[in-house]
Amino acid sequence: MGKGVIIACDFDSKQKVMDFLDLFTDEKPFVKIGMELFYSAGPEIVKEIKERGHKVFLDLKLCDIPNTVRKSMAVLARLGVDMCNVHAFGTKAMMEAAVEGLSEGNSKRPLLLAVTQLTSTSEERMQNELLINEKIDDVVLHYAQNASYSGLDGVVCSPLEARSVKEKCGNKFLTVTPGIRFTDGDVGDQIRITTPEKAKEIGSDYIVVGRPITSAHDPVAAYRRCVSDFVD
Ligand code: C5P
Repeated sequence: MGKGVIIACDFDSKQKVMDFLDLFTDEKPFVKIGMELFYSAGPEIVKEIKERGHKVFLDLKLCDIPNTVRKSMAVLARLGVDMCNVHAFGTKAMMEAAVEGLSEGNSKRPLLLAVTQLTSTSEERMQNELLINEKIDDVVLHYAQNASYSGLDGVVCSPLEARSVKEKCGNKFLTVTPGIRFTDGDVGDQIRITTPEKAKEIGSDYIVVGRPITSAHDPVAAYRRCVSDFVD
């Protein structure tokens, strides 16, 4: 399994994301389109970014009744995304429906990941606000196993959890990990974080990096630093 850096393009307009991607003249980074950009620019943005030669991870984190998720996933597969996701919280029935929906497209099925616990959620908040009285690591592993049993390709999780997820679900089960920060950068709202080098050491397959690249003085240099720390 190859390793890769995915840039979280959390912009609020097509113009801003295209201006950002124009900075990359020598490479075509794997791009994550999240809710902000998708809701502001619409589904066409996926096709336009794909036409520019980028792979696209559409990060809409679906969580609804199985029938709604199945039908929505069939629509997303037709957009030509390479990777998309659901919340594991939606249960195995919902995740199985998501796989079915994605498989209805004509082309190769996009990779499907489950979000376990958001990297901005601490164990304390999970226990006190969500009333899940377990260790966060156990919840993450249990959700990952549910995703694996439901036929998903991997999970979005904290880089700190990548090794234990692989031990539980097998080495081919993908770990896609946001919550990446350079040692000399801002942490922002993320809680369970690490550096690109450490994520490599722990065994992430893909790191998802947003603000450390998009808010950098030189985004291309920041992207290359991630690639050299994580992939090379
Ligand atoms: O700017 P930053 O590097 O924190 O961006 C991380 C990206 O990964 C954001 O787009 C966020 O929505 C996403 N994400 C996350 N934690 C998850 C799932 C997705 O931070 N568990």
